[in-house]
Amino acid sequence: MSQAPRKSRVFSGVQPSGSLHIGNYVGALTQWRDILDSHDCIFCVVDLHALTVPENVDPKALRAKSRELAALYMACGIDPERATIFLQSEVTAHAELAWVLTCTTPLSWLHKMTQFKSKAAANEAVGSGLLCYPVLQAADILLYDTDVVPVGDDQVQHIELARNIASRFNHLFGETFVLPKHKVRQAGARIMGLDEPTAKMSKSASGTGHAIYLLDSPKRVKKAIMRAKTDLGCEFRFDEASPGVRNLITIYEVLSGESREVISERYEGRGYGYLKKDLVDVVEASLAPIRAAYAGYTDDPAELDRVLDAGADRARGVAQSVLSRAMRNAGLGRR
Ligand code: TYM
Repeated sequence: MSQAPRKSRVFSGVQPSGSLHIGNYVGALTQWRDILDSHDCIFCVVDLHALTVPENVDPKALRAKSRELAALYMACGIDPERATIFLQSEVTAHAELAWVLTCTTPLSWLHKMTQFKSKAAANEAVGSGLLCYPVLQAADILLYDTDVVPVGDDQVQHIELARNIASRFNHLFGETFVLPKHKVRQAGARIMGLDEPTAKMSKSASGTGHAIYLLDSPKRVKKAIMRAKTDLGCEFRFDEASPGVRNLITIYEVLSGESREVISERYEGRGYGYLKKDLVDVVEASLAPIRAAYAGYTDDPAELDRVLDAGADRARGVAQSVLSRAMRNAGLGRR
């Protein structure tokens, strides 16, 4: 009897630092949700990565953020019956492989990472974890023989690095790792800040008008959208519009499923206020069910633990066999 072909493997994750915003949702989680059935999906709350953020020195808060994020994955439609969901620190193979890969990764590759450069420039005290961060990310991906990594476009450089790290290891020690590819959305790969539409919407930015967080109240969502920076004109044609207007049309397009052409035509000749007012409704239609589902998971912490225990068990099984393969090929251990 012929066996069914192996489904292509997907791995991705979010850091439990700050709060999940609509950029993370659009850029990453909507992609994850769309491939639940066609791929073998593994989604991780990458809490080891969160330790590189100086604000995450409060253990209680970090633990609470990790649980919140796992519950939010599910509230966003990542069904644990169709995907493996777990916490990175509960599968020790991530840290173990990261060490092995740290030893085979040239320092110059890490110095070139734009996220390291910008984060290092912004923080006075930079831990070495920040520099090695992309190696841990490579370990996350390579441990699962991952084919596809769905992310926002700010992570593309890290996924390309993971591919280079895998190639180099294979070259040094023989075929060991699958070479992963990134997957980004055509529209919505980079949602910009509402207050500053030339900068990426970010979990760490301060100020109330910057991001729409998934757990924001309807009142806050409305306030952030109505105050979003646009311009003094009334240009809705996507390619001609200012960055702020393009950002609003993109959010509208992705969440409503309507094309940008249809959206632009609808508001042509009217003011930006009309677009913003309708966008509030479009965003609310996406966020209201997420808030409701999230409340259900927080009311039942035992169920969340059950999902995360089962996820970690499955992840451990896959990760351990790839880790053993890598260690064996590198000559570590006696056999
Ligand atoms: P993080 O936690 O910063 O972001 C999580 C995901 O959201 C995407 N994203 C965005 N997409 C569109 N517009 C935005 N403004 C926006 N902001 C963030 C990110 O691209 C990402 O897909 N290093 C990663 C976490 C990570 C990871 C991994 C990802 C660790 N290991 C392995 C994939 C595979 C990070 O900090 O993402």
